[in-house]
Amino acid sequence: MWRSRIAPAALAVALMGPLSVLAEEPPANPKSLAEQLVDAFNGVFGVHPGMRANHPKGIVLEGTFTPTASAASVSKAAHLQKKKTAVPVTVRFSAGSGQPSVPDTSQMPRGMAVKFSLPDGSKTDLVVLSFNGFPVATAEEFRDFLLAVGASGPDAPKPTPIEQFLATHPAAKHFVESPKPQPVSYATLPYFGINAFKFTNAKGHVTFGRYQLRPVAGEHFLTQEQLNAMDPDYLSAEIRERLRRGPAKFTLLLQVAEKGDKIDDPSIAWPDNRKQIELGTISITKTVADSQAAEKKLLFMPGALVPGIEAADPMIVARSASYVVSLSRRAQAQ
Ligand code: HEM
Repeated sequence: MWRSRIAPAALAVALMGPLSVLAEEPPANPKSLAEQLVDAFNGVFGVHPGMRANHPKGIVLEGTFTPTASAASVSKAAHLQKKKTAVPVTVRFSAGSGQPSVPDTSQMPRGMAVKFSLPDGSKTDLVVLSFNGFPVATAEEFRDFLLAVGASGPDAPKPTPIEQFLATHPAAKHFVESPKPQPVSYATLPYFGINAFKFTNAKGHVTFGRYQLRPVAGEHFLTQEQLNAMDPDYLSAEIRERLRRGPAKFTLLLQVAEKGDKIDDPSIAWPDNRKQIELGTISITKTVADSQAAEKKLLFMPGALVPGIEAADPMIVARSASYVVSLSRRAQAQ
């Protein structure tokens, strides 16, 4: 067979002239993937100066985390070692939409972000959603999903870009079409880490897993009739009222991967029969005086990690980069 040692592009130029005359494709986007992702959110939800590109509607709360005795067998991370005093946490619950005025009565996943403040002054975060599974496997595919949504307005010709995307991406179709029941409270929903992390304990033993947070109050949802009577901001009002009566608690679990479970594909939820290790309890105790001022200064990042925990799914690094772009844009507008 005839083989050339010349690179394909150079060969094309040699045989057919400059590539510019061949090139039908648009020039590559000079922006980073992180910027493209934030632009894609803006294309769907618009630009809201000073606000997060996604999950802009939320409420900031405070509390503590107490690890179980078994947490240290999973990881040497400082907050997972049993100590006399609990670890302070800052928590932000949010609506899973880029629209700051989205009513709480809308069907959507909810977000929970937790920042652990460690005794040595370092911080580490958890950023989770109330749906087990992501629409796509990679950050590039997520950008394409958002671009397809953004290009599918009422005037888009049929089949619209998002109809075409969903027809070829079954996990995205499942995510979009699955019911997302309306919670009684942010504190009556389970939350899922979706992306996998690698945990190393003091003896060097490695575990791959995904976080799950189970509400100690149980999972409780509204009927359609109850929902019809709800205020568009009922979830923040409810959690403030709930905390006046006592803490809102979550059990932090690790769902452990078995051989064959995909570590780098968050669109596939692992089966419910996987081993779960209880890592501890998050106890949310109070609201902050000015939630809107507090959330502007906060950046929760899934890749903000401490020794003993590493990103296993590449989406975690891509997510973190786009959260930083969103922060730098919202900080400029303040
Ligand atoms: C490639 C995939 C993803 C991208 C590009 C992305 C992008 C973003 C961006 C830009 C923000 C706003 C950040 C800020 O301004 O501080 C955000 C917030 C958030 N995201 Fe993602 N995200 C992705 C996947 C996920 C996944 C898999 C989860 C859950 C497991 C998640 C949960 C959240 C939550 C809870 C917030 C709100 C954080 C807060 O309260 O500050 N995201 N996301």
